[in-house]
Amino acid sequence: MPVFESAHPLVKHKVSLLRDNDISVKAFRELAKEISMLLTVEATQHFSLKNTSMTCWSGDISVPTLADKQPTLVPILRAGLGMLEGALLVLPCAKISVVGLQRNEETLQPESYYENIISDIESRTAIVIDPMLATGGTALATIDLLKASGCKNIIALFLVAAPEGVKVIKDAHPDVTLTIGMIDEKLNEQGYILPGLGDAGDKIFGTL
Ligand code: URA
Repeated sequence: MPVFESAHPLVKHKVSLLRDNDISVKAFRELAKEISMLLTVEATQHFSLKNTSMTCWSGDISVPTLADKQPTLVPILRAGLGMLEGALLVLPCAKISVVGLQRNEETLQPESYYENIISDIESRTAIVIDPMLATGGTALATIDLLKASGCKNIIALFLVAAPEGVKVIKDAHPDVTLTIGMIDEKLNEQGYILPGLGDAGDKIFGTL
């Protein structure tokens, strides 16, 4: 399945503005919301349509409507919450499933500390949202968890990604579609994306 890096000039422009070291919390949040909205539009462009009968002012018509159940958005705590509002502008009826992961200090692997996944996930597309795809560990654990819950159709949205993280997800889950604002250069030794955004969670929550 494809890795889709947005070519939309507005996405590129807004991701560039996010990189400014002097950016305010307010501006960071607003831009994250706007980019999330644009990426959600791009990520849903292949959703199927069906014909639905409707009575409109001029009589009975057949109109195209979404064929499948509303998707579930899956913000990964905590930074993923910064993309939720933008995604909901495009999918206001989406269900929300939440996943919280933290690193096990012994195994160094991400472990789930909170899961609230919609019960009929097997019949919905899941759209994972997280600002940064760095090493890929958290996204991988989330996708594993969604699949273990029965989810068959997964899209993941990231504002910025490292090539290393993209490869991890592609290798482990080639069926998952990745929609990314910008694929950056690389990771540094601490697992931060370069040039990247710094700690996106801190910037969204104002905890710098
Ligand atoms: N998480 C972040 O917030 N930033 C990075 O660069 C990597 C992971």
